[in-house]
Amino acid sequence: SSRPLIDSFGRHVSYLRISVTDRCDFRCTYCMAENMSFLPKREVLSFEEIETIAAAFVARGVTKLRLTGGEPLVRRDIIDLVNALGRHLGTGGLNELTMTTNGSQLARHAQALAAAGIRRLNVSLDTLDPEKFRAITRRGRIEDVLGGIEAARKAGLQIKINMVAMRGTNDDEIEPMMAWAHAKGMGLTLIEGMPLGEVGIDRVDSYLPLRELRDRLAQRYSLEKLDRTTGGPARYVKVAETGGILGFIAPMSHNFCESCNRVRLTATGQLFLCLGQDDQVNLRDALRDGGLSALDATLDHAMVIKPKGHDFVIDRSAPAPALNRHMSVTGG
Ligand code: GTP
Ligand code: 5AD
Ligand code: SF4
Repeated sequence: SSRPLIDSFGRHVSYLRISVTDRCDFRCTYCMAENMSFLPKREVLSFEEIETIAAAFVARGVTKLRLTGGEPLVRRDIIDLVNALGRHLGTGGLNELTMTTNGSQLARHAQALAAAGIRRLNVSLDTLDPEKFRAITRRGRIEDVLGGIEAARKAGLQIKINMVAMRGTNDDEIEPMMAWAHAKGMGLTLIEGMPLGEVGIDRVDSYLPLRELRDRLAQRYSLEKLDRTTGGPARYVKVAETGGILGFIAPMSHNFCESCNRVRLTATGQLFLCLGQDDQVNLRDALRDGGLSALDATLDHAMVIKPKGHDFVIDRSAPAPALNRHMSVTGG
């Protein structure tokens, strides 16, 4: 079918995020617990199934696909999938194919990603300090990520750095990170930590409202508000002094749900209809049991049950995570 995907609040779904694996070679403190149990591999969608589902979304008006994880580049033969999805670019109605990655494996994949039609990558990096990087990721090496970023730039990819702002951890690095990113022509987006999954750190202590950072930055820099969006939740400013772009993703303090345009496919084929809610449909079962027509009907049902928005809170009155699943299941 080619009917557009419009939910019960009149929002048009044009952006599909695809988590290709919930596994990751890092264990970032705000994202995962030290010991994680991952989805059984036999339940993970095949590339063929992901392609079929993605094609169904594109046929129904999705123009933007983002591959996420976990870490998408740790899934075996991931480039085959990127190449297959890249074939929808241009002719097939897909405007953008992109990826969010931790950068650890980027050095060896950058060329192939660019060749497949990816133009832009979001790379997660919360610090420039090697020891702090180790502490935040629990097992990453910053040299790998920095090398990956350089390789991606050389391959002509446009890069945006995602930085989760954490009080007491990297709040002293906002300005240096911005200067570093902007000097290389990369954007920097600051993100408020969200309460997904038990991770074993105190989310209340580390929570840093972006309003506070924005006010702090505004004392030293002129922040020119931009109307531009990438179809994502970030609000952007241009920093006059650096000429670079700075983004703010502030779900806790700024609710952007009313213009939500996205849904999320997990590695096992659940379609989550909101990052902050449990509402979901099972596209894997629909496809395996009923083929394409069942898949389409399930998408219609998904639009009926897509919830209005998240209701995250971070304070002492809500000590438990809002949801039991980790960010790595839905890929952010
Ligand atoms: P752009 O296409 O560059 O705008 O990317 P994006 O912000 O859509 O994607 P990215 O994977 O870089 O996500 C950055 C952060 O935004 C992650 O921490 C996500 O969890 C968060 N995020 C993305 N979409 C949503 C959303 O719909 N709701 C909430 N609460 N957070 C979101
Ligand atoms: N809150 C906010 N952002 C998170 N990310 C992972 N876990 C969380 C969380 N609990 C970020 C990663 C990555 C993006 C996909 O989501 O740093 O940039
Ligand atoms: Fe891995 Fe990204 Fe989660 Fe860090 S934030 S553990 S890199 S999925």
